[in-house]
Amino acid sequence: MTFEGLDGSGKTTQVEMLRSHLEEAGRDVVATREPGGTELGERVRDLLLQGGEVSPWAEAALFAAARAELVSKVIAPALERGADVVCDRYLDSSLAYQGIARGLGVDQVLALNLSAIRGILPDLTFLLTLEADEAALRGEASDRIEREGGEFQRAVETAYRELAAIFPARLVALDGSRPPEEIAKEVRDRIQDLS
Ligand code: TYD
Repeated sequence: MTFEGLDGSGKTTQVEMLRSHLEEAGRDVVATREPGGTELGERVRDLLLQGGEVSPWAEAALFAAARAELVSKVIAPALERGADVVCDRYLDSSLAYQGIARGLGVDQVLALNLSAIRGILPDLTFLLTLEADEAALRGEASDRIEREGGEFQRAVETAYRELAAIFPARLVALDGSRPPEEIAKEVRDRIQDLS
């Protein structure tokens, strides 16, 4: 399962709530956060988020490199031993931010990522929808991409809605403005059909 949405949309809270729920049910759970989660991924994270401007394709390729490492070292081994994997961002972040908001093209960024992730797609992706202006009110912009400002964040918000229309079977849009417990219940109901 993956969680997607703008910074401030509540992804991290939902990942933690789902992780606890699954662990309480006795399941082996691995939770990841992108970019990062491996030694290489953390170094790429610094390059991407704390450095200066990065050209769009270099940005897409670096996110894909960090993701390839995460799949190879963490996600694929976890799935092989039968664990549940819950991800705070995955390939849809690249499709929304780089593919649509930066204008590189969904198909092009998808092709790059499908190779990087060896075709390992989520069974379900929860998109926490929230207006960009509301998301911005929930926290300080802490990295280079968040600091790009309202117009870019609004483009990402629209991009996620487009993705939900492109991948209706995999992407479930949930209203992120509701209380966390209400959203978590809907998530639990949805994943019941998977197991
Ligand atoms: P973010 O979720 O803010 O990380 P954290 O909550 O751990 O600080 O992700 C960092 C930023 O990177 C965020 O603004 C979205 C952006 N991003 C992309 O542009 N493309 C991607 O593929 C990913 C994973 C993130």
